[in-house]
Amino acid sequence: MTKSKVINVGVNDRKVDLFEGLYVVPNGVAYNSYIIADEKTAVLDTVDANFSDEWLNNVARALGGKKPDYLVVLHVEPDHAASVFEFVKKYPDATVVGNAKTFVMLEQFFDCKFENRLVVAEGDTLSLGEHSLTFVFAPMVHWPEVMVAYDASEKCLYSADAFGKFGALDCDEPWIDEARRYYIGIVGKYGAQVTALFKKLDGLALEIIRPLHGPVLTENLSYYLDAYTKWATYTPEAHGVLVAYSSIYGHTKAAAELMAAELIANGEKDVTVRDLARDDFYVCVAEAFKYDRLVIASVTYNGEAFPATRAFVDALVERNYQNRTLAIIENGSWAAMAAKAITQKLEKSKNLNIAGTAKVKSALNAESKAEIAQLAKTLAAL
Ligand code: FEO
Repeated sequence: MTKSKVINVGVNDRKVDLFEGLYVVPNGVAYNSYIIADEKTAVLDTVDANFSDEWLNNVARALGGKKPDYLVVLHVEPDHAASVFEFVKKYPDATVVGNAKTFVMLEQFFDCKFENRLVVAEGDTLSLGEHSLTFVFAPMVHWPEVMVAYDASEKCLYSADAFGKFGALDCDEPWIDEARRYYIGIVGKYGAQVTALFKKLDGLALEIIRPLHGPVLTENLSYYLDAYTKWATYTPEAHGVLVAYSSIYGHTKAAAELMAAELIANGEKDVTVRDLARDDFYVCVAEAFKYDRLVIASVTYNGEAFPATRAFVDALVERNYQNRTLAIIENGSWAAMAAKAITQKLEKSKNLNIAGTAKVKSALNAESKAEIAQLAKTLAAL
């Protein structure tokens, strides 16, 4: 019978307006922090600065009068490390555990020295009693100093940002959509580094994943691992089409909706239509990565694609969009340039099949309807 236990002492943030100053989080976000109460007591990671007091109260309650031996810092981004200094003030005898880069960054953020420190190297193990943490470095998943920790006694991975999702812990929503939006938005650029981490972890028995955001994962882990493997290798997750449009007076929107209707008429089962200016921008970006085919419908604006389209394509390129099929619907009342602008931005995308461009002049007519119908037929055949 084990006497040790692991407690989540993290907090739910339902106040944040934009996570990382960029992502809307309608259901908030959780900053998880774990206490391993064993012969030695370790606290793993802290929380955002706005929740330091609530978190310290959670820690004190969980400790029940004991003093913590260690504060393990897996990730220095302030959503997890902003309360390190407050912790050290309250528990000056606790040893802060991190790698060399951890301490460089902590000292940059807090402009102070953390004297009571343990600097760990890749593969080092911190023994707590029944539990022990083996550190595996995970550079750029999602900052350079990130490491994950494996506890063989529970077959548990403390995965830092990996396997996290948006959404407070008490919100009732499926994992996949908000995990995808979180991953593609924040870590999507670093697929190679996520793959490298998975190679290091290959062969480890795994029954629990404790991420820094979102729920602890304990069942059907292959589902989560499979999703992450696809995202990290830029492999489409679903056979389907995202039709992402920008429209000013509704004519390009009508063209996008016609494309969706034609796709469905040609047998497509999974078609999603999004307005790039009005729908959650990072849902649109994540869905582009979800599907194997993408249609961008854009009006021409100032000799370019529409600003929302430009931002969308830039966000795809920034995240290494690849291994998919793209079709374009270009609208222009004169000097149409959207298709050229879009394809130029995507020139460096690997393994991108351009299925074709349908042209609209101001509004749909018989000719443009026929072009869209033909393009839909081509896409649906893939
Ligand atoms: Fe949740 Fe990269 O911080």
